[in-house]
Amino acid sequence: MMKKIIVANLKMNLTLAEANSYLTNIKDKITDQLEVIICPSFPYLTLFKGYQFKLGAQNVFNLEKGSYTGEVSPVQLKSIGVEYVIVGHSERRLIFKEDNQFINEKIKAILNQNMLPILCVGETLEERSANKTSTVIQTQLEACLKDLNITNNIIMAYEPIWAIGSGQTPTSDEIREVMQFIKDYINNKYQINIRVLYGGSVNKDNIKSIIDIDNVDGVLIGGASIDSNNLLSMLNLVE
Ligand code: PGA
Repeated sequence: MMKKIIVANLKMNLTLAEANSYLTNIKDKITDQLEVIICPSFPYLTLFKGYQFKLGAQNVFNLEKGSYTGEVSPVQLKSIGVEYVIVGHSERRLIFKEDNQFINEKIKAILNQNMLPILCVGETLEERSANKTSTVIQTQLEACLKDLNITNNIIMAYEPIWAIGSGQTPTSDEIREVMQFIKDYINNKYQINIRVLYGGSVNKDNIKSIIDIDNVDGVLIGGASIDSNNLLSMLNLVE
């Protein structure tokens, strides 16, 4: 059986001192029973390198190098040992106006460096209420994966936008349904089985029931992973 994947997306949190104590707390406590991927902010990536968990970046630019002040390239990430990159997160889509085409270019650039994109897709509450969830997700998948050769070199994350940071989550049946939709779409198109994570308000109280859904391959945790003790308790619950 594949190991369940736990992604900790620390977002724009932690000072250097806090990142150091986070690392001190978790570094010897993460076993290899799970595939744990820690995604700290860019300045702390090298600090988090070389432990039992994998290193993930929260973002990347689509080009290799050049005059792009403030950006970080896939080549740079690869050179410091990053293995996974979150892409298409709704915060980047909404706040930084990243569209599917840009996300598609980023995925190509990530794959070119043999890193694994963790591609996030998901619907708004309005779209869900209007029964448009699968249409919206299909559109995102089509555009984000356009002209790509997908083998099992990508991980997907279903992240309903209304569930992110809100304390609300879909029901198990709703999660199962979208997971299956994504898996079937990929399977029909590329004849492969990919791993799909759930993300959005995962916490100590719901992680076990979400990860136990038969077609959920893991979870992407934001807010609840910022406290290292909280992360460790969640890992204990699912190990
Ligand atoms: P959350 O964030 O766990 O705080 O809802 C998840 C995410 O943004 O990926």
